[in-house]
Amino acid sequence: MKKILGLGLGICIVGSSMVAFANDEISSIVRGGLLYDKWYKVINAEKPTDTHPAWPVSNTKKKGDATQRCKACHGWDMMGKDGAYASGSYKTGIKGLRQMEGVAPQEIAAIIKDQTHAYEGKMSEQDILDLALFVSKGQVDMDMLIERSTKKAKGDAAQGSTYYNTMCVNCHGKDGSQPKEMPLLGMLANDNPWEILHKILNGQPAERMPALRALDHQVSADVLSYLQTLPVK
Ligand code: HEC
Ligand code: HEC
Repeated sequence: MKKILGLGLGICIVGSSMVAFANDEISSIVRGGLLYDKWYKVINAEKPTDTHPAWPVSNTKKKGDATQRCKACHGWDMMGKDGAYASGSYKTGIKGLRQMEGVAPQEIAAIIKDQTHAYEGKMSEQDILDLALFVSKGQVDMDMLIERSTKKAKGDAAQGSTYYNTMCVNCHGKDGSQPKEMPLLGMLANDNPWEILHKILNGQPAERMPALRALDHQVSADVLSYLQTLPVK
């Protein structure tokens, strides 16, 4: 169902339902998504060197800055121990945040500042609110867009090719091998599709990369499908 929206409103299509966001709200959600990815990069703070106090001692594979990112404990798929981080080097046993969808942003902001998290003072009130808004209103059910067992995106790669070759190619090159210092996009998309979907929706911290959040999420799935056909080495 398409709605005609007035000036100053963006459209976000989730499944078949449509949600309208005010411009300032969707930009706050996207910024929250970037902070969720790597907050210290977004706010240009010094990279933390200490291990997050909530990081479990049972996991000795990661330490320092890697443990300070929201995604490290709660997952790219926001499913924590019940998602992709059920195993592997980010296994922590910590729960996901899917159940926090729709919870009042103020309530979520209070959790981000609590003793477990201790982010107060490290980020501004606005940063914390953007994060809270992302958790409350910006979650995407990734299982709708990625087949969990095969890691394959549920998209149309041919359609994705037309998006990639108009929206991404100038920075990433035809074969996904640009910028030079970055791992191949094809490799990343096959290895960790949840991370890549998060970045397609929200952009890359501290880079001039567009966020596709305002478009139908199927566009992001189509792009991801195409990325999975690009060279992996
Ligand atoms: C080092 C691990 C770690 C990091 C990093 C981390 N969290 Fe958490 N988070 C936890 C733990 C552990 C809990 C569960 C606390 C409890 O239930 O007592 C939790 C719970 C939550 C909850 C409440 C979930 C619920 O169902 O009650 C929210 C919301 C949350 N975290 C958001 C965030 C955000 C946003 C960030 C990034 C700014 C973040 N967390 C970073 C460990 C972490
Ligand atoms: C204006 C340039 C620009 C555009 C357009 C752009 N990107 Fe990026 N993208 C970047 C830069 C710069 C980086 C960070 C490179 C690095 O880390 O070395 C990046 C990083 C990424 C990453 C993260 C890689 C990693 O290391 O985790 C993904 C995924 C990605 N881009 C996908 C896309 C897709 C898909 C599109 C099109 C929808 C796109 N980008 C459009 C500039 C761009």
